[in-house]
Amino acid sequence: MCASSGVFGGHRVILAPMAGVSDPVFRLLCTEAGADVAFTEMVSAKGLSYANEKTRHLVDLLPQEGRVGVQLFGHEPDTMAEQARWVEAELGERLAWLDINMGCPARKIVKKGDGSALMKDPAAASAIVSAVKGAATHPVTVKFRRGWSEEAGEAAPLFARRMQEAGADAVTVHGRFAMQFYQGSSDAGCIARVKEAVTIPVIGNGDVACGTDAVRLLEETGCDAVMVGRAAQGNPLVFADIQAALEGKAALPPPALEDRIALARRHVDGLLAIRPRAAAYLRKHAMWYLHGAPHAAVARGKLAHCSTQEEFHAVFDEVLRAQAGTGGPHAAPSL
Ligand SMILES: Cc1cc2nc3c(=O)[nH]c(=O)nc-3n(C[C@H](O)[C@H](O)[C@H](O)COP(=O)(O)O)c2cc1C
Repeated sequence: MCASSGVFGGHRVILAPMAGVSDPVFRLLCTEAGADVAFTEMVSAKGLSYANEKTRHLVDLLPQEGRVGVQLFGHEPDTMAEQARWVEAELGERLAWLDINMGCPARKIVKKGDGSALMKDPAAASAIVSAVKGAATHPVTVKFRRGWSEEAGEAAPLFARRMQEAGADAVTVHGRFAMQFYQGSSDAGCIARVKEAVTIPVIGNGDVACGTDAVRLLEETGCDAVMVGRAAQGNPLVFADIQAALEGKAALPPPALEDRIALARRHVDGLLAIRPRAAAYLRKHAMWYLHGAPHAAVARGKLAHCSTQEEFHAVFDEVLRAQAGTGGPHAAPSL
């Protein structure tokens, strides 16, 4: 049994914000499997301020979804504060908390002074946090990385303290430098040093791929909760394994292909029902669900052309038939 007390009422396992990934059906599948809270992808405060429909749709929730976290990005304190208020008004009770993105390393984000660029300017970062805190009634957290670059050195512990002083209610740290993008590994020691530097809760993030990883990160760093991103892609059931590990239970076996495909079907059906033009977007999710399946490469080729619900299901059916060995164990797939 893992001793961590969690954040904001005991949330210990959180689905990370992922741009181009964290759609409402994916979030629902992850919370059903065991994520305590799921995040939207990062939402541009500027886009919201222009009432941009595409941006606003990023905070659309399914009726059956639980409370979600919403992550804003931007660098103008007033815009961030105003849009935090808009999100609160829009989501009401369904908002778990607001997060501010100070970790995104993507060029198009950083060049405007957003995302991880804010780690290079702690005064600007603090002004954003104070403004959002002054406007919002929900808890406000900040998500950032170990620092800007290896050459510049680890900045996270001091940065975390600045965010706490500016009013942040918790911080999330991904133990890579921004300029590492996703190379190398996430440094758990950095998360431990952040935990020592602040009194607010710390959410540890980076390279948690199973329940064992989650328990290790919580125990080694003393962090209060874990956030999981890439390991959930094509595998929302990773959250079931993490919850089992937190309860001291044995690791769950890897999910059967049938179970992954059942989730893939729900993802496709659920999202096309609310976003009829999401087929192209869904292809990558569908490919993730089939990772490691027999003849997955052939299936991926087929998925790349799927435009309708029926076409997705036909590929899933064929993968299951290939797995069942219809036509012989090594038969060339009809896929
Ligand atoms: C496709 C993708 C999109 C992401 N989008 C966001 C985002 O919108 N906001 C954010 O703070 N981090 C974003 N991240 C970073 C993740 O939230 C997380 O910090 C990172 O993937 C490390 O966690 P992991 O090892 O569990 O994947 C993204 C990561 C990926 C792979």
